[in-house]
Amino acid sequence: MRIGILGVGSLAEYLIRGAKGVEFVLSPRSAERVARLGCEVAASNQAVVDACDAVLVCLPAATGLGVVQGLRFRAGQTVCSAMAGVSLAALRRAVGPVQGYVSMMPGYANAYAMGPSLLYPADPFWAEFLGHVGPVHEFDTVEAFEVAAVMGAMSGASVFLMRHLADWFVGRGLEPDLARRLVAEVLRGNAEVLLRSDEGLDAITAGVTTKGGITEQLVGILRDRGALSAWDEAMDGVFARMVGR
Ligand SMILES: NC(=O)c1ccc[n+]([C@@H]2O[C@H](COP(=O)([O-])OP(=O)(O)OC[C@H]3O[C@@H](n4cnc5c(N)ncnc54)[C@H](OP(=O)(O)O)[C@@H]3O)[C@@H](O)[C@H]2O)c1
Repeated sequence: MRIGILGVGSLAEYLIRGAKGVEFVLSPRSAERVARLGCEVAASNQAVVDACDAVLVCLPAATGLGVVQGLRFRAGQTVCSAMAGVSLAALRRAVGPVQGYVSMMPGYANAYAMGPSLLYPADPFWAEFLGHVGPVHEFDTVEAFEVAAVMGAMSGASVFLMRHLADWFVGRGLEPDLARRLVAEVLRGNAEVLLRSDEGLDAITAGVTTKGGITEQLVGILRDRGALSAWDEAMDGVFARMVGR
């Protein structure tokens, strides 16, 4: 499998690190990062497109479409955008007759082949590629894809939350390495519960909450202070921005 990548920033690096056995041809900017990755580097963005049947666009969301619009694609190519908030319709307008797809993924977790990817519409080639960097969810409707794509921001925010929690433990005297492991292991353990248990979320939350206990105390304060409902507000805001409403 050979993929051309336009825009070699953080996301591209994570995907390249995670996708073992895939050959990449990279756009030439970000020389230091490109050199570190040890992949083939094209002379220009157009040379990436000329060299590859499949092109993954990891350019900045604000400017990437304009860059893609200036490139010449040929029949039979396939282009997938990873740019947050760039719609399939806009991508397809930019690449002309070529097949276009949109995707979303967490980024860093993909470097460890642990990041879920979203793909719209379904496509065997891009599903196979994204399968190298984690589980893949293909979508039949743009509406469902757009809602699910908010996970891109939720994923990043969850890292901030983990840092915040680790900082609390460190602030009370725990070693930073232990605090970091503790937060990661607790969340990984609970994530495994969601993935493996047959119980619904209401039953799982009831199971981990002792009446009058410390979980009830902590959640009660978070709820009273609006810390849980603030996630709804924040995710609504990201959703509105990504779908342009
Ligand atoms: N980071 C993530 O984990 C993540 C996750 C999901 C989706 N995304 C999406 O992925 C895209 C890239 O995000 P990022 O975090 O990787 O951003 P980033 O680190 O800023 O990377 C963007 C890269 O594109 C390069 N670039 C800009 N204009 C270019 C051009 N005309 N031709 C060739 N290269 C150009 C930049 O090079 P210079 O440094 O030289 O400007 C930079 O290396 C965004 O659209 C974002 O929404 C990111």
